[in-house]
Amino acid sequence: MGKKFYIETLGCAMNVRDSEHMIAELTTKEGYEPTDRLEEADLILINTCSVREKPVNKLFSEIGVFNKRKKAGAKIGVCGCTASHLGEEILKRAPFVDFVLGARNVSKITEVLHRPGAVEVDIDHDESRYAFGEFRTSAYKAYVNISIGCDKKCTFCIVPHTRGEEISIPMELIVREAEKAARHGAKEIFLLGQNVNNYGRRFSGEHPKTNFTELLRAVSEIEAVERIRFTSPHPLHMDDAFLEEFADNPKICKSMHMPLQSGSTRILKAMKRGYTKEWFLDRAEKLRRMVPDVSISTDIIVAFPGETEEDFEETMEVIERVRFEQIFSFKYSPRPLTPAQSYDDQIPDDIGSARLTRLQNRHHEILDEMKRERIGKVVDVYFEELRPGGQAAGRSDNNMLVIVPGSEELLGRTLPVRIVEAGRTSHRGEVVA
Ligand code: SAH
Ligand code: F3S
Repeated sequence: MGKKFYIETLGCAMNVRDSEHMIAELTTKEGYEPTDRLEEADLILINTCSVREKPVNKLFSEIGVFNKRKKAGAKIGVCGCTASHLGEEILKRAPFVDFVLGARNVSKITEVLHRPGAVEVDIDHDESRYAFGEFRTSAYKAYVNISIGCDKKCTFCIVPHTRGEEISIPMELIVREAEKAARHGAKEIFLLGQNVNNYGRRFSGEHPKTNFTELLRAVSEIEAVERIRFTSPHPLHMDDAFLEEFADNPKICKSMHMPLQSGSTRILKAMKRGYTKEWFLDRAEKLRRMVPDVSISTDIIVAFPGETEEDFEETMEVIERVRFEQIFSFKYSPRPLTPAQSYDDQIPDDIGSARLTRLQNRHHEILDEMKRERIGKVVDVYFEELRPGGQAAGRSDNNMLVIVPGSEELLGRTLPVRIVEAGRTSHRGEVVA
């Protein structure tokens, strides 16, 4: 009987890819097989997120439950960003944990597995040239990392402390990986980094000067690649050349994530985001002019320390003007190791909650107006997964989630679909014969 592992992945797309890397290492080098039944696993991994406080608190109660349910002798490993920032402390608070593996150390999974009590959380560790084994969750879409770490110092954000300094992955490795995935049927390539459009600022070792726009062009030249997505770009680095490539390159999907964080220039400065409200609006409005069908998503933090009613109104004004198709909105959460946690003027929780509710309500009203215009439209959908009840789901070029009656024969194909019903996050449609 082969050994089995169970893995839970929290957080962002980068974590999803890190989990795929660990799965690849475990299956190709250690002969493990995946299971979705915790009780039969010989190894239990939890790949954690530490961006906000809540998931971190939940972690300890969750691994306690894992420890009770696991079979005798099974190992538990805590991986990812919370592993990076708590390190040893995890073993102190939960002595039954077998090892702790940081977000920048996932290549060491096969090693820590055999070292009880191992804590590998070095944020200077360089995995930018590491050749991971092959594993992909989806046959139709491939995540490809383009950099590790983040060099920005946004004052609310713990990521630079858990993933370390930013190093770009050599372009030839990225192109080779994308080529291979596409040849195996993943026609959509999803480029990943904490700050993708900062690509090329630093490599480990010699590398010719380049940038994200050139990388996009190189990936789009791979014949088998039909669609390119990426996350997350930073509004500061959205120069004209990048916007033009985005607009003109037919393989680049027309959905852009533009993490605003705040609409107040004063707060943006306190966050050290490097752009102003005017710059953000200029970029978003330019994008809407250049790509009329574009969908724009964003991240917003309300109640950052010192945020006044006037500052918050400026955020509300930006959402009126840009009319985002999707908003990931959060109440500010003070994080260890970050400058903003020690700012004096922290905002009371009830004010934060009220602002969050107001923002989300207004966003929903805007979405309800926009979604009516979508009914009857025909969009090209690339089908990626089956849904219960004889349905298939996929995304339009501009990232609308569309569900149609259908089965396996739709998967991996791009077909025209008429939208018959539009919700805030998903749409029902029928394939146009
Ligand atoms: N570079 C990544 C950022 C990762 S964190 C990106 O641009 O997507 C993802 C989002 O979580 C951030 O954009 C921010 O909106 C939110 N976030 C980060 N730290 C936070 C904090 N301390 N409190 C609340 N939200 C936070
Ligand atoms: Fe965090 Fe800012 Fe980097 S949000 S991940 S420090 S771009």
